[in-house]
Amino acid sequence: MNKRLGIGFIGSGFMARFHIQSWVAVRDADIRGFWSPTRAHAESAAELARSLRVGEARAFASIEEMVASPEIDCIWICSPNHMRVDNMERIVAALRAGKGRLVGIACEKPLARNAGEARRMVELVEEAGVLHGYLEDQIFQPALVRSKHIAWSRGAALTGRPFLARAAEEHSGPHAAWFWDGVRQGGGVLNDMMCHSLEVGRFLLTAPGAPRESIRPVKVSGQIASLKWSRPGHARVLKDAYGVDYARSPSEDFARATVHYVDEEGRPLIVETTTSWAYTGAGLRLSAELLGPEYSMAVNSLDTPAKVFFGRRVAGSAGEDLVEKQNAEQGLMPLVANEAAEYGYEAENRYFVGCFLDGRMPEENFHHGLEVTELLMTAYMSAEQGRVVDFKPPDLADFIPAVARGEWRP
Ligand SMILES: NC(=O)c1ccc[n+]([C@@H]2O[C@H](COP(=O)([O-])OP(=O)(O)OC[C@H]3O[C@@H](n4cnc5c(N)ncnc54)[C@H](O)[C@@H]3O)[C@@H](O)[C@H]2O)c1
Repeated sequence: MNKRLGIGFIGSGFMARFHIQSWVAVRDADIRGFWSPTRAHAESAAELARSLRVGEARAFASIEEMVASPEIDCIWICSPNHMRVDNMERIVAALRAGKGRLVGIACEKPLARNAGEARRMVELVEEAGVLHGYLEDQIFQPALVRSKHIAWSRGAALTGRPFLARAAEEHSGPHAAWFWDGVRQGGGVLNDMMCHSLEVGRFLLTAPGAPRESIRPVKVSGQIASLKWSRPGHARVLKDAYGVDYARSPSEDFARATVHYVDEEGRPLIVETTTSWAYTGAGLRLSAELLGPEYSMAVNSLDTPAKVFFGRRVAGSAGEDLVEKQNAEQGLMPLVANEAAEYGYEAENRYFVGCFLDGRMPEENFHHGLEVTELLMTAYMSAEQGRVVDFKPPDLADFIPAVARGEWRP
C-alpha cells in the first residue's frame, strides 16, 4: 500500500467541497481525483483541492477510470442519495474485473434511501472486500466529543450512566433540487437530517470504548408534518427554485422521533430527536443534550464565541459567509469560525484516513449506516401508522415511505 493514501471523490458538490476544506487538517492522505457527471464540476473541485494544496487532484472521465488509477487508494462517495447503489455497483464491478484495487470506501450519510438499498450497500462493500466507513460527521464535532467525554468521565463515573440524549438539526431548507424530491432523496427532512440526530443520540448514550451495539433499540415512535413549505406562497418559491410541486406532493419539513433503547443491563434509555427544514434562525443549528442522574451537558452550534453586528445601512447581497444555511446579513449574527472543524469534518476525515492507513475497520462503518437507515424507516412506519412500532419490524427491508413514493398527503 502507498505510505500516503490517494483519495478519489464521487461527486463534486456542496459536500465534497466541505471535505476538501477539511483536508488541510488531514495527514498522510492527498485528494487526487473527482468524478462527477458534469466534467466541469469535477475540474473545478480538483482546482479547489490543488489551490488549497491538499493534493494534486484531477478530473476523471468515469468511476471505472478512477478505480483503475494507481494513485487512488480510497473512494469517498458524495453523490446524491438515489445514485448510491449505482455508484457502488460500478466500483465493485471494476474491482471484480481486476481493473484496480482499493483499500477503503467511505460513504456520506444517509447510507441509502431505504433499508433495502442500505442492505445492498453492505452486501456490495463486503463483496469488494475493502474497509468501509460511514461518514457521520456530527459524532466527530469537537464540542460534542469533548463534552461527552467529560459527562461520562465525571458524571457517569460517580453517579451512573446517562439515560436521555436529545439531538436536533434544523435549518431553512436544502440547497439543491434533488433533496426536495422525495423519490430521489428517499424522503423529506426525516431521511435527510434525522440520520445525523439519531446517530448523535446513540453515540452520546454509548459508554466510551463500548461498541455502538452495546445499547439496543426496542421501539420507535415518529411524527412527520409539512408545516411551512406546502403553504401556497412557499410552495411557489420551491416550484420556481427547484421545480418541485409541494402544493400537490410535498415531503415533510418537520419530523421528530423517540427511540427507546435498553442498556447492557436492560435499563431503559431514550433518544429524542427533532429535525426541521422550517427553521428560521441565523442559519444551521445543531444541538444536543445528554442527561444523567446528577448531571447534564448541552451543545449548540449557534452559541458561537464570535458574533458580528451589521447596521441597517449594511444592505449587501445574500451569502453564506457567516454560517451554513445563513438566513440574514444584518443585525447581531453568529459567526462559525471554522465550519469544517466545528461540524466534525476535519476529525472525521482524519479518523477514516487513519483507519484505512492502519488497515483497521472503522468503528463507524456501513453496518452503522444500515442500522441508522433501519431506525429512520421505522420512524416513517410509525408516523404513517400513528403508533409506536417495535424494533425491528419484520417487513422493514421492503418498506418505502409514502413520501419517497411521491404519495404522501399530509
Ligand atoms: N454530512 C453532512 O452534513 C452532509 C451535508 C450535505 C450533504 N450530505 C450528503 O452528501 C451527499 C451529496 O450532497 P451534496 O450536498 O454535495 O449535493 P450536491 O447536489 O451539492 O452535489 C451532488 C454532487 O453529485 C454529483 N452527481 C450528480 N449525479 C451523479 C451521479 N449519477 N453519480 C455521481 N455523482 C453525481 C453532482 O454533479 C454533484 O457534484 C448526499 O448524500 C447528502 O446527503 C451530507
